[in-house]
Amino acid sequence: MADTESEDGVRRRDFIHIAAVGTAGVGGVFVVLPLVSQMAPSADVLAESSTEIDVSAIEPGQTVKAIFRKQPLFVRRLTPEEIVEAGETPIADLRDPETLDDRTKEGHRDMLITMGVCTHLGCVPQGAAEGEVKGEYGGYFCPCHGSHYDTAGRIRKGPAPTNLVVPEYAFTSDTIVTVG
Ligand code: FES
Repeated sequence: MADTESEDGVRRRDFIHIAAVGTAGVGGVFVVLPLVSQMAPSADVLAESSTEIDVSAIEPGQTVKAIFRKQPLFVRRLTPEEIVEAGETPIADLRDPETLDDRTKEGHRDMLITMGVCTHLGCVPQGAAEGEVKGEYGGYFCPCHGSHYDTAGRIRKGPAPTNLVVPEYAFTSDTIVTVG
């Protein structure tokens, strides 16, 4: 019971942190939230339906955070080097075998969109914001129990059983993504 309360507390703190970062408009979050607020009549409606994101200002190597269905969402533009590295990773080395192509859209291989929720027990991984720990594989690191995800959001080390979840999404233009 105490563990559950503790994990809930960690998730709540991480969620509040994400919300606070969004409110402060740090980095690329500015790209996301104004458009989201224009599109949705209310936060509750937005949380239960879809999120529209303008990815045009996201730089290679940058991840911006958004909220989708009340949970953190990471929108990352991979660098050319990260695309090569992710593409060359032997599938046999992966606990949850998915190629980069499996996790991105045709023609948009540089855009990786995942839930920002560790698949172990639901903490928010680090590595999305400047200064956060990226972990051993250059992607995301979950500080709760030490799961390491690579730049394609695939689990590489630690207790998490599966890759970061890629939600349903589609490019409605070259620069606009609709998630959900
Ligand atoms: Fe992420 Fe346990 S919740 S490693």
